[in-house]
Amino acid sequence: MIIEPRMRGFICTTSHPKGCEQNVKNQIEYIQSKGKIAGAKKVLVIGASTGFGLASRITSAFGSDAATIGIFFEKAPSEGKTASPGWYNSAAFETAAHHAGLYAKSINGDAFSNEIKQQTIDLIKADLGQIDLIIYSLASPVRLHPTTGVLHRSVLKPIGEKFTNNTVDFHSGKVTEITIEPCSGDDIENTVTVMGGEDWSMWMNALKDADLLAPGATTVAYSYIGSALTEAVYRNGTIGRAKDHLEATAFSITDSLAAINGKAYVSVNKALVTQASSAIPVIPLYISLLYKIMKAEGTHEGCIEQIQRLYAQRLFTGNEVPVDEKGRIRVDDWEMNAAVQAQVAALWKQANTENLAELGDLEGYRKDFYNLFGFGFDGVDYTADANELVGIESIK
Ligand code: NAD
Ligand code: NA
Repeated sequence: MIIEPRMRGFICTTSHPKGCEQNVKNQIEYIQSKGKIAGAKKVLVIGASTGFGLASRITSAFGSDAATIGIFFEKAPSEGKTASPGWYNSAAFETAAHHAGLYAKSINGDAFSNEIKQQTIDLIKADLGQIDLIIYSLASPVRLHPTTGVLHRSVLKPIGEKFTNNTVDFHSGKVTEITIEPCSGDDIENTVTVMGGEDWSMWMNALKDADLLAPGATTVAYSYIGSALTEAVYRNGTIGRAKDHLEATAFSITDSLAAINGKAYVSVNKALVTQASSAIPVIPLYISLLYKIMKAEGTHEGCIEQIQRLYAQRLFTGNEVPVDEKGRIRVDDWEMNAAVQAQVAALWKQANTENLAELGDLEGYRKDFYNLFGFGFDGVDYTADANELVGIESIK
């Protein structure tokens, strides 16, 4: 069967196994080209199949020869339907890791549930004994709370007043003004419950109680701050409250790990095209302008470059981990550079449907978006019959 991208709204409902494999191979090659990192050797990545989590798993495995367990929530291929990209990515990752002689196993299910936490604990006990790095990289719109049974939905809304600004439909290139109504009712609480730190601390407590954390174990979760242009809908909005909570949770986890001298960090990462960020209004316009500036400056990074820098220049240098005044690791430093932000803000005022392809990097945005689903990679013959079952034996 020949697989083509099929769009429904802002999501692509198909994905290409060979292209996803190519994506993983490219990331592995990048990590190998950068040399070894004296990092953790037994690593659990929660949210390991796409975006920053996949990049983290690849960096641990191919940068530090680590054994990795990856947790994710992805769809396997079924009759006439492709798998979700994270499923193909993970199949390709496991195949490559096994070829390199590295331990790699995955658990596909709801990381918020007690069952998946228990399965993970059983697998670590059986195979690895103790782990020394836990990357927490979930991005989800919903969370079924494991103790109350309540299904919480996160929202991406401003707080207090409505927010009006420009956004772009990156498929058509059309720039329009949108108004987002402020949150109401339990929106903040629900968003904090889904994307805040509670589940991260539940994971860390469960691992600690099962005595699966090695002395000095480190855990890292990912956050975002971003610019003044997006703060009403992002950092000062409902999702920002969740990130505040996540960042605060790092301190309570560190306290809870005192007996093993463990440490929890939040790393603030750069804005990138992922399935999660494409769904946030205003952000795609910001990203397309940011990409243009950062590519011109030579400071543009994707997920893999970000995580390679996080590991090699922040976490595993042999020195103290550098943090900002709020205790956060910053690899969004090049995005947040004042000159970069000033240029993006200047372009923002001018950007419209007619000039965005010139002013911004709409092409780069689109390419990254299609890449998420395994489309648009050099070295992949998209006219060939795609073997949907690539790597199927390696995912449980
Ligand atoms: P992503 O959508 O690419 O990855 C999300 C991962 O979570 C996938 O592996 C998915 O399978 C997994 N997942 C989702 N729900 C799950 C569930 N219930 N059970 C198990 N696994 C589940 O997202 P991303 O952009 O890489 O985001 C990861 C983190 O990085 C988030 O905290 C996000 O806020 C943060 N971050 C993102 C950006 C950005 O611009 N994309 C910037 C800075 C920080
Ligand atoms: Na991720």
